[in-house]
Amino acid sequence: MKELSLHILDIARNSIRANATLIEIFIEENDIKNVISICIKDNGNGMDKGTLNKVVNPFFTTRDVRNVGLGIPLLKAAVERCNGSFKIESTEKVGTIVECSFQKDHIDRAPLGDMGDTIMVIVSSLQECDLKYVHKYNENGFAFNTVQIKEILGDVQITGNEVLLWIKEFINENLYNISKK
Ligand SMILES: Nc1ncnc2c1ncn2[C@@H]1O[C@H](COP(=O)(O)OP(=O)(O)O)[C@@H](O)[C@H]1O
Ligand SMILES: [Mg+2]
Repeated sequence: MKELSLHILDIARNSIRANATLIEIFIEENDIKNVISICIKDNGNGMDKGTLNKVVNPFFTTRDVRNVGLGIPLLKAAVERCNGSFKIESTEKVGTIVECSFQKDHIDRAPLGDMGDTIMVIVSSLQECDLKYVHKYNENGFAFNTVQIKEILGDVQITGNEVLLWIKEFINENLYNISKK
């Protein structure tokens, strides 16, 4: 995959499919530690031990529409190419946590990609689910939370086009600011 954000999208889609009502994405870029770490946590259905042991193997899926399971194995492979670490924890009826890190200056590390687009796409497919997104860049950071945005929006739908475009710009503006400080 060309960009880390596409992996994030894929992992978040797993959470949505697992009927999560809250997805939390935490990204930290740190130049001193020379690391980019990504954590995606959900409170969805989770997996039993047997399923959890199989998910890191390519082509395992519980989907019946398209019989491939590549999301998690592809992320794990990307991590392994970049001297990183990968961990998945899951508990049935509690949720799932996917945590991974990449050596930031590794020659094979894909760029993060467009997080504004990615968050916009995730929000557009949330039904009764909320999304928290925290991004840290060295000493700086910002947070995005659909709970707060829904409060401000009142009766206006968060999945409307204008709101989604605003979210995309809000994210990209904040990312630009924290990387420039
Ligand atoms: N967050 C999650 N909650 C519950 N089950 C999950 C989660 N992520 C992955 N799984 C399980 O692992 C399987 C493999 O996931 P993945 O590698 O992304 O492939 P795919 O999404 O194509 O099935 C899924 O079909 C699902 O059964
Ligand atoms: Mg998937």
